[in-house]
Parts: sequence; structure tokens; C-alpha cells
Amino acid sequence: MRIKNLNLKNFRNYTEESINFSDGLNIIYGRNAQGKTNLAEAVYYLCTGTSPRAKRDKQLIRRGEEYAEISAETEGRYGKLELYARICETGREIRINGNKISRNADILGNLFSVFFSPRELRLIQDGPDERRRFLNVFISQLSRPYYIALVRYNRVLEQRNNLLKDKNPDTAYDLLPVWDEELCKYAAAVACRRAEYISRLAPRASEIHARLTDGSEELKISPEKKYAGSEEEIKNKLYSELRNNYERDLRLGFTASGPHRDDISIEINGEDAKMYASQGQTRTAALSLKLAEVEIFKEVSGEYPVLVLDDVLSELDLPRRKKLMGCTSGLQTVLTCTHAERVLGGLDANRIKIEGGKVKP
Ligand SMILES: Nc1ncnc2c1ncn2[C@@H]1O[C@H](COP(=O)(O)OP(=O)(O)OP(=O)(O)O)[C@@H](O)[C@H]1O
Ligand SMILES: [Mg+2]
Repeated sequence: MRIKNLNLKNFRNYTEESINFSDGLNIIYGRNAQGKTNLAEAVYYLCTGTSPRAKRDKQLIRRGEEYAEISAETEGRYGKLELYARICETGREIRINGNKISRNADILGNLFSVFFSPRELRLIQDGPDERRRFLNVFISQLSRPYYIALVRYNRVLEQRNNLLKDKNPDTAYDLLPVWDEELCKYAAAVACRRAEYISRLAPRASEIHARLTDGSEELKISPEKKYAGSEEEIKNKLYSELRNNYERDLRLGFTASGPHRDDISIEINGEDAKMYASQGQTRTAALSLKLAEVEIFKEVSGEYPVLVLDDVLSELDLPRRKKLMGCTSGLQTVLTCTHAERVLGGLDANRIKIEGGKVKP
């Protein structure tokens, strides 16, 4: 899958700009605060319908303007697509080939991308939230049933938590078994698919990490162990877990177990990466996960996603940079950096200079 071009209007610090991409490596370079990440963000938005960093869509609108527009032409196995998003203060409109899209689920899967930004280091360094976010974005792009189960799970979970917050044991004991039947159905669907994708991802990530470090480091990723068995078995297990903890959940005022609390463990050379990994190791591990994601996209969808690497080269030493660039050959890559780095000098690439929200000829 490839992105042919990107058109921005009133998006972040861009007034009106069009960028053409080549099928291989695209290097977006320029000084700090010129709009490189903004450009990467726009690509991500068209893929997922969300921004990787803005809490609200309206932050994407250029200050002082009323709306922002992003559009792109893509080409994949199933032909060409025109993606379009218009963001206003009051809402947004998404069109694919001119047809209005109303469900979020329909945005995902039109343009696959794997996105790396310095924020991705939090995948290793931060709490479980970040790792769940990673899994959710990754699996949702590939599995519509996952996305739908996740949305429904979160909806029922919110209702369950509202019930717990009321702290009225009589109504709670009456209603919880009913909510939980529903909740566990979606929870099991989510947990099962996560386990499936993690088991695909883990060996790939270890392989790539070994390649990036010349075999000097071993990366190990393991899922929650409690979810062995079929979807039905997981559902029953979760149901009894919730049932045995009504009292605890009522006391806490929220649901303290389930896929919204799960985590994956990430170890480098047998040590918890969160506690012990260096900056470079953290970055390499996060990259290995992302590049493994690329491989799984290919396996599942039959074509490679667009790889967006925002500011990935800093903190990597020269050998790791070279290895990384080796891993991206054959992929359409959009890479941002502050100057055409040494390692990039000799590479065949489409170079785009950004200055003050404009492409410099
Ligand atoms: N809604 C907005 N309206 C106008 N300008 C904005 C808006 N949002 C962000 N900007 C500006 O866009 C500029 C460029 O941001 P961006 O993150 O793309 O920089 P960058 O080129 O990636 O820089 P760095 O190399 O430091 O990462 C920032 O100075 C920011 O103030
Ligand atoms: Mg940036």
C-alpha cells in the first residue's frame, strides 16, 4: 500500500500545501518547529481517524482558521483510493472516494500505516496504558471484529463502572450479573485476539531486535498468562473472576480486572526493559516492535503498510541507524529528521525540505 500524495489546508502550521511521495524512502527534513511532525501526524490521521498526540481534533486546525482539510491519494492491491478529512470546531467529515463515512470502524483499514515517533518510547518506559494503546491501534487496523469488540467492551465497562460508583450494593448485586454476561463476551473477544497477535508479534520483534543489535541483545515479549484456552473458556474465567470480586469492585468504585487492565511484559536480555533499558536500547526495542508490526501487516493483509518514522534517528548510534535503514528497504517510508543525516546521505530518496509549514523547492 502506498500514499501518492498529501494535501493539507489549514492543518497545524500549514496554510495550503501538497506533497508528493515516492514509493521508496521519503526524507522530510528541516529545522525544529517547521512542520515535519505535523506532516507525519496528517498521514496518521487519515489512517486511523485520530491524532497520535492531540487530545482534541480542533487542535489540528491552524490557529485563527475555522476548519482544516487533509486529503491523500493512495494505491494498493485493490486500486486507488481518495481519502479526505475535514475538521471543524463542531465536528468532522471523512470521505473515502467521495463517500461520506459515518462509522469510525470504516476509517480503519483504508490506508495501513505503522507510525513511530519519540512518543513510542513510552511503550517501553511507561505503564500498561501505553502498551494497550499500541495493541489497540495495531490490531484495530487489521481486525474489524477486534475494533468493534473493543468499542463495545469499553461502553459496557463504563456502564458497569457507573453502577459501581453509585455504591448501592442492592442494585449492584442485581444488575452486575447481567452486565457481566455482556462484558465478558466482548472481553474474551478482545483478550483472545490480543493473545493471537502478540504471539505473532513476539518472535518477529525478537528477530528484528537481534538483527538491529548484531545479536548482542535478546528481546522477549510475553502476553498476560491468564488467558489460556478458547474464547468461551476465557469468557467463563473472566466471568467468575468478576463474580468473585463484586465486593472489591464496589469498594473501589470501578472494575479492577479485565482486558482494560492487562499488560505485556517486555524484557531485554532477561531484564525488565522498563526498569533497566538504556535510552538506545529502549528506542531499539520500540523500533523492533514497530518493524515487527510491519511484517504482521504484510502477513495478514497481503501488502506492506506505509512506514512513518518521525524523528527516529536521534539516540541511535551509527551501526543501529544503518541496520534500521536496511530494514526499511522495499517499504514506502516517510522519515522525518532535522538534517539529512550522515547515514541517509548515500541513500536513494525523495528529499523534501520543510520550512515554516511550506515545502521548500
Ligand atoms: N493548530 C496550530 N496552528 C498553528 N500552528 C501550529 C498548530 N499546531 C502546532 N503548530 C505549530 O507547528 C510548528 C511545527 O510543529 P512540528 O511539531 O511539526 O515541528 P517539527 O518540524 O516536527 O519540529 P522538531 O524538529 O522540533 O520535532 C510548531 O511551532 C507549532 O507551534
Ligand atoms: Mg517533530
